[in-house]
Amino acid sequence: MESLVVDHPLVAHKLTTLRDVRTDSPTFRRLADELVTLLAYEATRDVRITDVTVQTPLAPAHGIRLSRPAPLVVPILRAGLGMLDGMMRLLPTAEVGFLGMIRDESTLEAQTYATRLPEDLSGRQCYVLDPMLATGGTLGAAIQFLFDRGAEDVTALCLLAAPEGVAYLDKMFQGSGKPIRVVTAGMDERLNENGYIVPGLGDAGDRLYGVV
Ligand code: URA
Repeated sequence: MESLVVDHPLVAHKLTTLRDVRTDSPTFRRLADELVTLLAYEATRDVRITDVTVQTPLAPAHGIRLSRPAPLVVPILRAGLGMLDGMMRLLPTAEVGFLGMIRDESTLEAQTYATRLPEDLSGRQCYVLDPMLATGGTLGAAIQFLFDRGAEDVTALCLLAAPEGVAYLDKMFQGSGKPIRVVTAGMDERLNENGYIVPGLGDAGDRLYGVV
């Protein structure tokens, strides 16, 4: 598995404001949206393309188009929804599938409560949106779900990651032979005893949408 921390002053600036406990939900949503668009630029570097030729007003020009089948973007509900618009802005022809997953706060294990995805993902490139790669349980289960349906490769976009989560995914998928990438705005120090990223930004879902 490959992980990439996007190193850019605009990414670091927006991430710092996201972390700030004084940032309110409307500002948090807007910044998360902008940050995802910057992450998406890096995350789509390996998107599959096809050579084409177009006619300019002067001459034929060689170029590329995104290949079919279209990439599939998969936000993990609830917090991943806050990343969807930012991703689709850059990849408007992608299709969107939904995975509802919740972390059991006592066992830290992921449970799936909703799925709305094509049955057959053969040949599809998938982009999973999950703001916090903490223990890796939720993201690992989501990636496995996509591979079980035949996905070709999976790239995860995360606002923040913890080393424990990256190590968990590394171990879970080692020897799977499937390409997996994690693209994040920051790699934090550690998880606390409740499985929260430290220093992190708190509960991403609550900060986007309020406490439920
Ligand atoms: N989920 C969150 O929203 N925040 C964390 O720090 C860990 C998991």
